[in-house]
Amino acid sequence: MTGASGQLGSEVISEAAQRGLATLALVHRSQPPVRPHDHLTGDLLQPAALARSVAAVRPAAIVHCAAWTDLGRCEHQPFLAHMANSEATRRLSLLARELVIPLVFVSTDFVFDGREGDYREEALPHPLNEYGKTKAMAERHVIACGGAVVRSTFYGQRLLDHILQSLRTGTATASAERRYTPIAVDELARVLLDLLRLGRSGTFHAASHPALSPLDLARLAAGAYGFTPEAVRPSPPGSRDGVERPRDSSLDGGRLDRLLGRRFQSPEEGVSRLCRSIHSTRR
Ligand SMILES: NC(=O)c1ccc[n+]([C@@H]2O[C@H](COP(=O)([O-])OP(=O)(O)OC[C@H]3O[C@@H](n4cnc5c(N)ncnc54)[C@H](OP(=O)(O)O)[C@@H]3O)[C@@H](O)[C@H]2O)c1
Repeated sequence: MTGASGQLGSEVISEAAQRGLATLALVHRSQPPVRPHDHLTGDLLQPAALARSVAAVRPAAIVHCAAWTDLGRCEHQPFLAHMANSEATRRLSLLARELVIPLVFVSTDFVFDGREGDYREEALPHPLNEYGKTKAMAERHVIACGGAVVRSTFYGQRLLDHILQSLRTGTATASAERRYTPIAVDELARVLLDLLRLGRSGTFHAASHPALSPLDLARLAAGAYGFTPEAVRPSPPGSRDGVERPRDSSLDGGRLDRLLGRRFQSPEEGVSRLCRSIHSTRR
C-alpha cells in the first residue's frame, strides 16, 4: 500500500492487520504511525522507478492512498502535482494490470464542480482546481486498467484534533458555504479492503447521510467535546487559501451501500464515536 504514513493509510494498515493481512508499505518521508509488516521506499515524483520497486516485490494487491493532498501546493506546482497524483497512478495501474492483481485507488469529491450535488458515479467530473484535475485524470487511468476508484471525503483524528485545539483557544470557525458527505476515516479504510476482497472494479462513492456543511460537522465535534455548538462560528465567505472548492460536492453513495449491505454512520454517529475513541486512547 502507498501513503502508509497518511491519515487514511495508517487506518488501512490497522484494518488489514485485524483481517490477518500482511501489508507492505511504500514509505516516502515519514514513517507510518502503525507498523506495517514490511516496507520499501519510493517517491510518487519518480513514477517509473516507483513502479519498478513495487513490481520487484510482487504484491498480491495494491491499495493506492498516497497523493499530494495539499490543494495550495497542487495549485502552485501543477506539473509536480500531475506527476505525483496522475502519472504515478497511471504507472501503478499499468503494473496492476500486468501482474493481474487488483488495485483500489482513493479519489475525491473534488472531481466535481459542485453546481449540482448528490453526484452519482456516472456524473461527469468537472474539477475546479488542480488537485481535482489530477485526481480526475488518475481515475481515468485506473478505470482503463480495470481497477477500482473510491471517491470520498473523510474526517479523522487530524481534523478533530484541530477543531478541539481551536475550541480551546476560542478561535473555532468553519465554512457554512459548502455541502459535502464525509465519512469516518476508519470506515473508508474498511471499504477499500472490502472492495479488494470482493474483487470489484469500477467507480464507487463512499458517502454519509445526511449531507452537511463543514460548520455543521465542526459543531457536532464541539458537542461531542462538551462545548456548545455556537462555539464554532461560520468562517468568513470565500476561500482562505485562494483555491476554489466545489459548493456542493455531496455524493450519492447508494451503489456502495447496496454492494456492501450496510450504510456508513451518519456524521453525528461517526463524529461522536471518533471523538470518544480518540479521547479514551489518550487517557
Ligand atoms: N483527507 C481527505 O479528506 C481526502 C478527501 C478525499 C480524498 N482523499 C484522498 O485520500 C488519500 C489519502 O489522503 P490522506 O488525507 O490520508 O493523505 P495525507 O494524510 O496527506 O497523506 C498523504 C500520503 O501520501 C504520501 N506522499 C506524499 N507525497 C509523496 C511522494 N512524493 N511519494 C510517495 N508518497 C508520498 C505521504 O507520505 P510522506 O508524508 O512520507 O510524504 C502520506 O503517506 C489521498 O489519495 C487523497 O487524495 C483525501
